[in-house]
Amino acid sequence: METKVYHQDKMKEAAEIIKQGGLISFPTETVYGLGADATNTEAVKKVYLAKGRPSDNPLIVHVDSKEMVEEYVEAIPDKAIQLMKTFWPGPLTLIFNLAQDNDLSTSVTANLNTAAFRMPNNHVTLELIRQSGTPLVGPSANTSGKPSPTTAIHVLNDLSGKIEGVLDDGGCEVGIESTVLDMSNPDMPTILRPGAITKEEIEQVIGEIAIDTYLVDEQNAPKSPGMKYKHYSPDTPVIMIDSELDNWEEAIEYYQQLDKTVAILSSGEIADRLVDYSVFALYMLSEKKEVKSAMQHLFGGLRALDAELTGYDGVILAEGYPEVSQNAGYMNRLKKAANQTFFRK
Ligand code: TXA
Ligand code: MG
Repeated sequence: METKVYHQDKMKEAAEIIKQGGLISFPTETVYGLGADATNTEAVKKVYLAKGRPSDNPLIVHVDSKEMVEEYVEAIPDKAIQLMKTFWPGPLTLIFNLAQDNDLSTSVTANLNTAAFRMPNNHVTLELIRQSGTPLVGPSANTSGKPSPTTAIHVLNDLSGKIEGVLDDGGCEVGIESTVLDMSNPDMPTILRPGAITKEEIEQVIGEIAIDTYLVDEQNAPKSPGMKYKHYSPDTPVIMIDSELDNWEEAIEYYQQLDKTVAILSSGEIADRLVDYSVFALYMLSEKKEVKSAMQHLFGGLRALDAELTGYDGVILAEGYPEVSQNAGYMNRLKKAANQTFFRK
């Protein structure tokens, strides 16, 4: 199959493919999604196949409005309505109890009684949903386990030949996947996956919420099935440089002594400090240390350095941030890429 690149003017064709049960990757403010009709089981199965994703991992349903959610759920709790007013369209996914007879494919929900919904902040994709006349599943459009795609090129690198098309709308602003909040028990909303929208920002709207204990201590089982899988890893090992230890120089010397080819993924501030070291490659996440920019460029940086290190016995040293709520999304993805390891001699 030849994977076509569509732009906004070819929206109709892309929507037609979705209606016929095909796969179109779509842009969002977080990462590119792999879209299929969420009510069509055959189509949804193809999504799992194309990604190589385990099918016990439920998918997010992308909608163009609150009204579209109402067609599938029992009821939308008041707190969730407030959150939708504040954050939709945007990088917040909400989990609700499903209505008894609903049209979502059971492959979307992995047979749970709940489903995750999100209204992405991208007008091209909102139009695609409207023209397709159906909600779209949309896991990140990468091969399972690889860094998520933040450009159409990333999508093609992983899925070319496996999907009908990709709708190109440039780079993603946020850069990591949405915050997932479980609202199935509205008395105790719980963050299952950290993202750009923080716990405090949510609490300002609906009061106290919880965080899945798995996010605090990995010994606990995650409530979100997707969290247990290895994620976001390039082929090259990634080693985080802890922000408090701040031992970049020591780490470079250590790996160079082991004859490793060292690449750096950091802010310009750090890169400036390391000019005297001859490293193989450098990818700047931000100028000054700044988590929003680092978040936006993290996955692209991991992909770029991994490509440069093809054929080398390399290592990517990547900039850690302090473990505060604002940095939770970035640190969650980086620590997964780094297999929870940081440099310590
Ligand atoms: O930013 C995003 O959310 C991106 C873009 C493309 O919109 N999408 C995305 O989708 O990351 P997906 O399907 O890969 O995210 C699914 C996450 C997984 O961690 C999954 O386990 C969790 O949401 N999830 C989905 N439905 C769930 C449910 N009913 N209960 C608990 N967790 C659920
Ligand atoms: Mg993903």
